[in-house]
Amino acid sequence: MIVPVMQVVPACIATGARTCDNATTMRTVHWLFVVSVALFISGMGFIIAGARTMRTAAPVDAPITTPVASIKQIMNGLVMPAADVIYKAVGTTSTAKGVEEIAPRNDKEWAVVSNSAAALVESGNLLLLSGRALDKGDWVKMTRAFIDAGKAALEAAEAKNADGILTAGGDLNASCDTCHAKYERQ
Ligand code: HEC
Repeated sequence: MIVPVMQVVPACIATGARTCDNATTMRTVHWLFVVSVALFISGMGFIIAGARTMRTAAPVDAPITTPVASIKQIMNGLVMPAADVIYKAVGTTSTAKGVEEIAPRNDKEWAVVSNSAAALVESGNLLLLSGRALDKGDWVKMTRAFIDAGKAALEAAEAKNADGILTAGGDLNASCDTCHAKYERQ
């Protein structure tokens, strides 16, 4: 607390007046005391208000986990196996018996596809965690494209739409290539 010490000099001295009684000095000191107390109390108020604000503004969105896996591990452990399921779920194969259409045949097989699509979407979220995201520009944009393709695959699987899986698989594959072209270390 800074008290303006200079003003303790009574006005009568400061102005060069010939008479300077104690009462004037005491009045000035009293006045300064009252102002100091008022400043002190209001200062305390600010400190308390500040502490309250800090408490209520506690970082709600603060990450509760720290990224552990490397991008490479996420690619090999999560992305690659999940993408593989999507790519292989629908298509055609040529065998000696002729062209065979491939598509999930029952709820259980469709569930495998939607689980993998959901895993892809979530692995996209992992790529966006601070501490893992390589930048806030193209990395985010390209990961969003990857997530969108995963979501399209998820919706197609939930609708049991084989053509939708093909289209989403194409978009997904394009999103891998776009990101690798810019970021994959050789
Ligand atoms: C947002 C960017 C991004 C997207 C999207 C992405 N990747 Fe990657 N991927 C990377 C990076 C960066 C690396 C290199 C990691 C390293 O070597 O440290 C990588 C590496 C890989 C690797 C090689 C790992 C190794 O052992 O060297 C595979 C496999 C892979 N990605 C698969 C995929 C597949 C499949 C998709 C799409 C379904 C995909 N990635 C989508 C960024 C991405």
